[in-house]
Amino acid sequence: MLTLFEAARQCLEAAAIDDKIASTHAHAAAFARGELPIPSDAPPPEPIRMPGRPPRPRLVHPRELPRRGLGSDPGRAAFVHSIAHIEFNAVDLAWDAVYRFRGMPAAFYADWVRIADDEARHFTMLRARLQALGHDYGDFDAHNGLWEMCEKTAHDGMERMALVPRVLEARGLDVTPGMIVKLRAAGDEHTAGALETILHEEIAHVAAGSRWFRWFCEQRRVDPEPKFRELLAQYARAVLHGPFNMEARGAAGFSVEELEALLQAAETP
Ligand SMILES: [Fe+2]
Ligand SMILES: [Fe+2]
Repeated sequence: MLTLFEAARQCLEAAAIDDKIASTHAHAAAFARGELPIPSDAPPPEPIRMPGRPPRPRLVHPRELPRRGLGSDPGRAAFVHSIAHIEFNAVDLAWDAVYRFRGMPAAFYADWVRIADDEARHFTMLRARLQALGHDYGDFDAHNGLWEMCEKTAHDGMERMALVPRVLEARGLDVTPGMIVKLRAAGDEHTAGALETILHEEIAHVAAGSRWFRWFCEQRRVDPEPKFRELLAQYARAVLHGPFNMEARGAAGFSVEELEALLQAAETP
């Protein structure tokens, strides 16, 4: 019988787009039916390495990615591609949380399996928009920043929770409302509607990150606020940008003190 860890690894290793997405939905459904046990005596996870991915998109340095407006069809397609790429990566990020961190409470695995399932659905929604604009996933270049943070935090669940959901995924909460407004102004109601659904569901993903970051802090008798501040300074200088969506971040479990820490860290050169 397949274990949850083996199922997570299969999804991580799947390289074809349709295979990763279909395996994610199938394993998430099997887990929800209680068919994927979480063994307490599983061997430790394999060292982290790049997950399976299709040959395209080409991965480039973020500086090499052109900035395009949302007003034109090609600009909008490039933009939808960049968000689809984030969602495709987010599937791997969620499965890696399941796969890598052993001996966690059952609720941790339930959260990250459900999130992997959401991310696969988000990817499919955006891929459909991309196809409606005459393109597909792989047609534009992309960057590897999300997976790089996953690698940097593979040694520690507390650091992973602080930096992947609460910094990188949370960035979506900050920038998506403005994108929805611009898409509506450009007359693209379909993509705007997809992003509204995604924004709503991402609040729950970031909230799971907050919950499990605090859980680790409690286990280790570490004060979460100074720890979050310390981790921002250590890892997040280059990736932290305001302005922040205080309301959405508040709903996703950021304390007032943490929001202040974000503002200060983003201002520090
Ligand atoms: Fe998502
Ligand atoms: Fe997410």
